[in-house]
Amino acid sequence: MTQPLNFTLRADELPTHWYNLNADFPEPLPPPLHPGTREPVTPDLMAGLFPEALVTQEMSVERHVEIPQEVRDVYALYRPTPLLRAVRLEKALQTPAHIYYKYEGVSPAGSHKPNTAIPQAYYNKLAGTRRLATETGAGQWGSSLAFACSVFGLECNIYMVKVSYHQKPYRRLLMQTYGATVHASPSRETEFGRRQLAENPDSHGSLGIAISEAIEDTMKHPGTKYALGSVLNHVCLHQSVIGEETLRQMEMAGEEPDVIFGCAGGGSNFAGLAFPFVRRKIKEGKNYRIVAVEPASCPSLTQGELRYDFGDTAETTPLMMMHTLGHAFMPPSIHAGGLRYHGMAPMVSHCRKLGLIEAVAYPQLKVFESAVLFARSEGIVPAPESAHAVAAAIDEAARCRVENRKRVIVIGLSGNGLLDLAAYDTYLSGHMQESGNGN
Ligand SMILES: Cc1ncc(COP(=O)(O)O)c(C=O)c1O
Repeated sequence: MTQPLNFTLRADELPTHWYNLNADFPEPLPPPLHPGTREPVTPDLMAGLFPEALVTQEMSVERHVEIPQEVRDVYALYRPTPLLRAVRLEKALQTPAHIYYKYEGVSPAGSHKPNTAIPQAYYNKLAGTRRLATETGAGQWGSSLAFACSVFGLECNIYMVKVSYHQKPYRRLLMQTYGATVHASPSRETEFGRRQLAENPDSHGSLGIAISEAIEDTMKHPGTKYALGSVLNHVCLHQSVIGEETLRQMEMAGEEPDVIFGCAGGGSNFAGLAFPFVRRKIKEGKNYRIVAVEPASCPSLTQGELRYDFGDTAETTPLMMMHTLGHAFMPPSIHAGGLRYHGMAPMVSHCRKLGLIEAVAYPQLKVFESAVLFARSEGIVPAPESAHAVAAAIDEAARCRVENRKRVIVIGLSGNGLLDLAAYDTYLSGHMQESGNGN
C-alpha cells in the first residue's frame, strides 16, 4: 500500500476563527507607545492608517476572532493548504526523524502573505477605502496585496525595496498583472524617498525606508489607507490559520511534533504556524521546541536588543517593544528579501522573552545548500526565506541521525521560490556571497 504523505483537510474544515495569543500570554504584551508623548497609543492614532475593524483586532485580547464568510470564500481558493511528510528528504538525510512541512506556496501569490492580505483588503473595502499603500521586500507581500485588492476592487500602490525591484522583476510584473502600481524604493514619489536619494543616490533601499514611504503616501492621499504585511498583532492573528490547520493535520498523521521551525522576517509566518502550538504549551503543558530561524546578516531575534523602537526609518510609526537591530539598520542585500527587516513582531519578541520559543540564525550559503537538497528530494523549490526553516530542520534531522533518535519535525514552508530562480542561479553558478547578492 502507498504510504500516505499528504494530509489534506476537506474544504469544510477551513478554520472558522483566527486565534489570538494575546488572550493567553502569562504576562500581557507591552503596548505600543505614541512617539511624541510615550503614552500607550489610542485607537484614534491608528485610525488614520487602518480601518476600524483592523485597529480593534490590533488591540484585541479576544481569544478567537470569527473569520468573515467573504474572507473564507477567498481563502477557499487555496486553503486548507497541504501538510506533507518529507520521506524523500528523510531518506536523503538517512535520518530516523520524521519531517513534515506545511506548504503555503499553493496560494495565488506563492506564499503565506495572502492570509492577511485578503482580510486587510476586505475590511478596507467595507470601511469605504478606495486605495491601499504598502511596501514590499521580495515582492511576496506586494503581490499578495495586489491580488487581494483586485479581488475587492481597490487600487494598490506599492513601494518595493530597490534591490528586490531589480533582483525580482517577475514579482514586480505579477503585482502589475494584478493591477498594482509599483515604485522602486527609495523613490521620487515621496519627500522621504527624495531625501534618501539625495543622501545616497545608490541606496539599495530597505523595508524600513519603504514603510516610511508608504505611510507618507497614505497621509497625503485622501481615500488611502496603509497595509502592513507583517509585524503587527492583527497580521499575526490572520496568519494563525496556518497553525490551526497544522494542529489538525498532525492529528491526521497521528504524530505530535517535537520541534517546529519557521523562518522569521517580521515574524508573521512564524507566528501563524507557531502560536496555536504555543497555546498548547501554555494551556496544556506541551513541551514542543518552537524555533524561529532568521538570516545571520539580519539577526534581530538572536542579536538585537529587546526595547522600544520605531517600525520604520523615518520614525513615523508608534514605538513597539520588540527585538531590534535599530531602525536605522541597513541589512545587506541578501536574496531572502522578505527577511531583511530590522525588528521582530512584538508578539514573537514577547514569546522569546517568556521562553516560549527559541531563535537561531543561518548564513545565506548554508540556506541555499539546504534549499537545493530540499528541491532535489521533495520537488518544491523553497522561497529563499522559507529555506531558512528548511536549513534548521535539516540540521535537526542530522542530529537525530547522530543520536539515532526519532524526533518529529515540522517545517513552515512559507512559500515557493519559482520567482526567485535568479537567486538559485547565483548560488548554482558559485557567485553567491555570504552577505550580499553576488550579482
Ligand atoms: C516566503 C516568505 N516567507 C517568509 C517571509 C517573512 O515574512 P514574515 O516574517 O512576516 O513571515 C516572507 C516575506 O516576504 C516571504 O516572502
